[in-house]
Amino acid sequence: MSQFELQDELNHPRTQTPQFTQMVEQGLSRRRFLGASAALGAVAFFTIAPLSQSIAAVLAPAAGPLLGFKAVPVSTADTVVVPDGYQVERLISWGDPLFTDVADFSNQVQNNTVANQQRQFGDNNDGMSLFSVDENTAILAVNNEYTNYELMFAHQGKKMTAADVRYAQAAHGVSVLTLVKQAQGWRFAKDGQFNRRIDANTPMRISGPAQGHALLQTKADPKGEMALGTFNNCANGMTPWGTYLTCEENFNGYFGSDAAVKLSPAFARYGIAAEDAGYSWYKFDPRFDLAQEPNEANRFGWVVEIDPHSPQAIPVKRTALGRFKHENAELVIAADGHVVVYLGDDERGEHIYRFVSRNTYNPTDQAANRDLLDDGDLFVAKFNEDGSGEWLSLVYGENGLTAENGFHSQAEVLIHARLAATQVGATTMDRPEWVAVHPHEPMVFCTLTNNKNRGLKDNQPVGGPNPRAENHYGHIVRWRPTAGQHSAKGFQWDLFLIAGNPSVHGATPYAGSSNITAENMFNSPDGIGFDQAGRLWIQSDGNYSNQGDFAGQGNNQMLCADPKTGEVRRFLTGPVACEITGLAFTADQKTLFIGVQHPGEELEPSHFPLGGDSVPRSSVMVITRTDGGIIGT
Ligand code: FEO
Ligand code: CA
Ligand code: CA
Repeated sequence: MSQFELQDELNHPRTQTPQFTQMVEQGLSRRRFLGASAALGAVAFFTIAPLSQSIAAVLAPAAGPLLGFKAVPVSTADTVVVPDGYQVERLISWGDPLFTDVADFSNQVQNNTVANQQRQFGDNNDGMSLFSVDENTAILAVNNEYTNYELMFAHQGKKMTAADVRYAQAAHGVSVLTLVKQAQGWRFAKDGQFNRRIDANTPMRISGPAQGHALLQTKADPKGEMALGTFNNCANGMTPWGTYLTCEENFNGYFGSDAAVKLSPAFARYGIAAEDAGYSWYKFDPRFDLAQEPNEANRFGWVVEIDPHSPQAIPVKRTALGRFKHENAELVIAADGHVVVYLGDDERGEHIYRFVSRNTYNPTDQAANRDLLDDGDLFVAKFNEDGSGEWLSLVYGENGLTAENGFHSQAEVLIHARLAATQVGATTMDRPEWVAVHPHEPMVFCTLTNNKNRGLKDNQPVGGPNPRAENHYGHIVRWRPTAGQHSAKGFQWDLFLIAGNPSVHGATPYAGSSNITAENMFNSPDGIGFDQAGRLWIQSDGNYSNQGDFAGQGNNQMLCADPKTGEVRRFLTGPVACEITGLAFTADQKTLFIGVQHPGEELEPSHFPLGGDSVPRSSVMVITRTDGGIIGT
């Protein structure tokens, strides 16, 4: 009996109806394809079942069913579909002005100017957080991850100019929006007091253990303390002291060089290469030219903390949280008062990390919490086949993080966190995306969106928390920290769901776990988050071809799951070629904001959201119930 089960047995009565245990068991038993790995897999599955049972036991039954809406069918329509009794409206779209003195480019996106874009809503909205100000005022901080040149420019990116690059840079970053509650619901307020754009050229402070390190010094910033901008801001987090966390993901693609450059092994691990990945920034902006500024790329790949209540506040890059391709930053105050931040690194075969603050959270003095994210320890997850796991510390001088292995300081461990993770023996995962912590139980969920390389690369064996070779559908792993303490060294894990296509694959592992059916199937779970009642909302960023392996799955979508029973129900479908990403609820849980990102990418036929012959535009949507009730019930 594992430590987890023992602890659980002592504190909670055992449920007599472990429905979800059976579901996962059945789903996992479909994995006949494992061949040589089958024995290992069987061990993992055998131990998963009792763990699921105990997880189900700790989740107290809700007063009624947790999921109360009628599922929507799959869709290939160019619109957002919500359940009966719900309504969806547009809050804001790429290019909408934040201020009244800025042109509304409406359908003229290809003629937009740099000066306008700097004060308009950015492109490709992704993660977002809502901050309550008062009953009728709130702030929505929204990431603007990247751009689609095929939609942004008449030349579709083939004839970039310096002005085009500056326009694209202005469309990246973060938009801070003032929201006001009107008779018809929550609306964006142009000229609102909190409105702000942060883009790829906004000055920001570098803080924490890597501040000032030689690897962060550039010609423009010889001290290595002030960076310009943030970009490829994927997902997000928020702190109880009222700040927003924005996470830099695929920063590597913006750097390059036409000159001969010698690239370090660390650059290779982060995918930083001389070739143009398509953005062409380095051709017109010397700080992105690896030959001219060899350290500029080290100043990206961080989590940035922003105070959305103070439009003049300088954003801060928190280096203690490590440098990798960050997905989100899920922050929770552990029972012992330490601030814990769970972090995914979204690339095939990369890892899941955890930060634990040195000092504890002070609920009565928010100013005292301001720099908690500068001081603490970073860990990386090791998942064992038997359902146990541990957090391996990334501390200079320990676990082989020494000079003989290329690490000369804690700053270097953080700047090269991926290399450090490999050195200490972290588990390679199937693209860790968002992490979400249950609001009432010490339980953590992480989406592993897909991994076509699993089983084909030596460092990515099939087994443990990554049970399928050539995993095209993705899955969700969950864990419970030892003794319910998020700062604890160990944890117990299992799989919450395995996505698949039971219509195409029958009883193979690619059908998915048994809580996946022809009625609720999807692929590539990405954004996840809990509402206050403990519903797990799941957003997909997957293959929307609706063909072959993905036949019958339609456009990307949003689902809702009951963590206790394992039931998954489709809540929403998105327009053509979008992903659904980003979610935020108002405090009363009666309004849900979600993001529709890159509709019509790669010139797929979309005119979302305005219809007609309009250019498709990423948008934030507002969802409410027609009877004004709580979302999801
Ligand atoms: Fe920006 Fe991993 O999605
Ligand atoms: Ca994502
Ligand atoms: Ca994604």
